[in-house]
Amino acid sequence: MEVKVWFCMCIFLNWILLASSYSRKLLYSVHNAIMEFDTDTHNVTVLVEHGGDYVYAMDYDYKNRFIYFPRYNTRDIVRFPYSSKNITLQTVIQSLSYPIGIAVDSTNDHLYWVDYNTHRLSRCSLNGSNRTVLSTLYHPIVIRVDVKNR
Ligand SMILES: *[C@@H]1O[C@H](CO)[C@@H](O)[C@H](O)[C@H]1NC(C)=O
Ligand SMILES: *[C@@H]1O[C@H](CO)[C@@H](O)[C@H](O)[C@H]1NC(C)=O
Ligand SMILES: *[C@@H]1O[C@H](CO)[C@@H](O)[C@H](O)[C@H]1NC(C)=O
Ligand SMILES: *[C@@H]1O[C@H](CO)[C@@H](O)[C@H](O)[C@H]1NC(C)=O
Repeated sequence: MEVKVWFCMCIFLNWILLASSYSRKLLYSVHNAIMEFDTDTHNVTVLVEHGGDYVYAMDYDYKNRFIYFPRYNTRDIVRFPYSSKNITLQTVIQSLSYPIGIAVDSTNDHLYWVDYNTHRLSRCSLNGSNRTVLSTLYHPIVIRVDVKNR
């Protein structure tokens, strides 16, 4: 299935949306799961259960077709293939300091995130290797990659 995902984030904590314009699916997180809403059929399905954590962000790796999201209390970033019949969470990176915002740069194989506790902006490869702190910001919560202008 051709999946094109665009991203939209609401300020309401724990209510985050990802939308796919081709397959017309809207992804959002609730307290224990990531949900998929079919905008054509209005069907709602539980896509993946993430264990009662807080999920404040999601982003999509267009190249390798994974959804990435941080788990605030578990302090890690996980991913799962989308869309796929076999949805298994894979841990990308652990031992973070309350990750709250993420941004995927598929073109350059980079995953960016901000930690709520340390106020740090960090980066690693999409497989979690080569973790690097880039900067310290003032209470960062949300980050995006400007793909067009790099
Ligand atoms: C809605 O989802 C359920 C469970 O996944 C499925 O059995 C049903 O066929 C779906 N309905 C439509 C209209 O897609
Ligand atoms: C589902 O995905 C996991 C992780 O990628 C893999 O280990 C497992 O073998 C897969 N299961 C099936 C039935 O394909
Ligand atoms: C992880 O990604 C980096 C950068 O693309 C690559 O150099 C490295 O071999 C990868 N490691 C694994 C275990 O796949
Ligand atoms: C790892 O990150 C450093 C700093 O961002 C960069 O200079 C280096 O090229 C990266 N190495 C790999 C294998 O991606």
